[in-house]
Amino acid sequence: MYQNLTKDEILSKLRDPDSSDLFAEADRVRKQYCGDEVHLRAIIEFSNYCKRDCLYCGLRKSNGKLTRYRMTVDEIFCAARNAQSLGYQTIVLQSGEDDGFSTDELCGLVRKIKKELDLAITLSVGEKTYEEYRAMKEAGADRYLLKIETTNPELFKKLKPDSDLEKRSQCLENLKNLGFQVGSGVMVGLPGQTLEDLTDDICFFRESDFDMIGIGPFIPHPETPLNQAKKGELNLVLKVVALTRLATLNAHLPATTAIGTIDPAGRQKALMCGANIMMPNATPKQYRRFYEIYPNKICITENPNDCNSCIQNMLRSLGRKLGAGYGHSLKRSMVKKG
Ligand code: 5AD
Ligand code: FES
Repeated sequence: MYQNLTKDEILSKLRDPDSSDLFAEADRVRKQYCGDEVHLRAIIEFSNYCKRDCLYCGLRKSNGKLTRYRMTVDEIFCAARNAQSLGYQTIVLQSGEDDGFSTDELCGLVRKIKKELDLAITLSVGEKTYEEYRAMKEAGADRYLLKIETTNPELFKKLKPDSDLEKRSQCLENLKNLGFQVGSGVMVGLPGQTLEDLTDDICFFRESDFDMIGIGPFIPHPETPLNQAKKGELNLVLKVVALTRLATLNAHLPATTAIGTIDPAGRQKALMCGANIMMPNATPKQYRRFYEIYPNKICITENPNDCNSCIQNMLRSLGRKLGAGYGHSLKRSMVKKG
């Protein structure tokens, strides 16, 4: 019934200041369709170079104040091996859109990790050509994360001047056609974004059938043109998470690091209103503070081991189980393929 929420119903839930029933229903649907297991995806932020100039992002090329780093292939492999030894079964390799890393290098790394470590691999390296995505899939990458960020085409163009909504949608379509498990998502509270836009985002998630959907607040970065903008509100972010759960039933929804950044208990709250995934940071400690997409990011002074213990404790205190296995997509098409 909830999957059939009309646009107007979604919009009125977003407007409703009392969200307790919505959150309880999203928690119930999460339990029914995803269970109590929380799957972990260890994220390795391997380069903060970026050729793009997105107005919201601290890694944008015009931010001359940021110290840039690029991990070597060996360093990335070691970080992956360390993640494996901590018990993670999925790693996410993420970077800015960095041309300093060739597709061949990236594919070589994916092949080596697949051969030597028993891990599911998610890549998150931005907009690439069909051929580049195909090479990555052939190298053995299982999943790809590419957030749509907003489905409002004008807002998209303003915030991401190097791209457009159509190009980005085409990338998502290509990834899906190549057989990747595809993750997308949006930011909530972007300057100029309306509740109608967020309603469209949620409807887009329902239509697109993504395997994973990451939702987080926009957080203004001082070294960007949006430095004076307001950050996304926790309650609105949680409502978008809850409504996305109701609209998609079994999509994987992470309790994002950005939610944990605007509220110390943000990730726990997200896990109680629809989320079923966590993305612990597995980046070597010396690089963490430079992957400053937004300010005051959590886990900057911790190391991979700290984040692992922290998240295990968090799940225990919420009465949730650590996911067993790779935590592949729960979407039917994926289940059929085994
Ligand atoms: N606030 C919150 N999230 C941000 N991202 C980028 N910049 C910001 C910001 N200022 C998110 C985008 C991107 C992901 C890697 O980080 O959604 O896809
Ligand atoms: Fe990193 Fe809690 S997850 S310190």
